[in-house]
Amino acid sequence: MDRVTKVYGSGAREGQAAVREVSLRVDPGELLLVEGPSGSGKTTLLALAGGLLAPTSGHVRVAGIAVERLAPRDRPAFRCRHVGFVFQRGLLVEALSAEENLEVALHAAGLFRPESARRARALLERFGVAHCARRAPKSLSGGERQRVAVARAFANEPTLVLADEPTGSLDGAAGRSVMQALAEAAHENGRAVVVVSHDPRIRSFADRILEMVDGCLHA
Ligand SMILES: Nc1ncnc2c1ncn2[C@@H]1O[C@H](COP(=O)(O)OP(=O)(O)OP(=O)(O)O)[C@@H](O)[C@H]1O
Ligand SMILES: [Mg+2]
Repeated sequence: MDRVTKVYGSGAREGQAAVREVSLRVDPGELLLVEGPSGSGKTTLLALAGGLLAPTSGHVRVAGIAVERLAPRDRPAFRCRHVGFVFQRGLLVEALSAEENLEVALHAAGLFRPESARRARALLERFGVAHCARRAPKSLSGGERQRVAVARAFANEPTLVLADEPTGSLDGAAGRSVMQALAEAAHENGRAVVVVSHDPRIRSFADRILEMVDGCLHA
């Protein structure tokens, strides 16, 4: 299967152009870092790539799927199968334990117990947070929380992982461990990973760096 991700086009939010004439290709096994000032369109770019926002013109291809042509009712299934999201503060369901947070994602993709519990444990172990499995998100450190969120993003073996400022709320060591986890998952498991960030400390983890300025991407 063609697992390449391509975004070509423009995207607007409430009528205001936030991304203009972008042309981007991300290959499996690659970690792409997109930097750029606040308001330059980074989050909008991720929303376009992940099918959360439809382009006003152009197209988005993920694993050969024409994302902009998917009917609204088909988009959740597409995201569940092909896209993993990581947000700035490791958004987790607070009422569930770390492993249950992963199991929710696995259930959505049709994997149930006991396999879902086994897979959740294996993922937490892979991202160095097995000791957090039974704990509530509020009892985790920022770095642990974010690694649980990264484990969840990879739960369904997505084609594409989109991380929006994943180290923004972390100190240096925790930020490095999160970036290490994202880079390893890209390189060892052949996922395409796009990280958008202002954080200069994470540049060394990127295979390629692009800059977004005023809705346009530059090398
Ligand atoms: N829901 C919205 N409605 C209208 N305009 C929006 C909306 N969300 C974002 N925008 C505008 O789109 C532009 C790009 O926003 P975006 O969130 O993509 O920037 P960003 O690069 O992610 O910024 P930051 O680094 O601050 O997160 C900004 O001008 C912003 O004000
Ligand atoms: Mg943003």
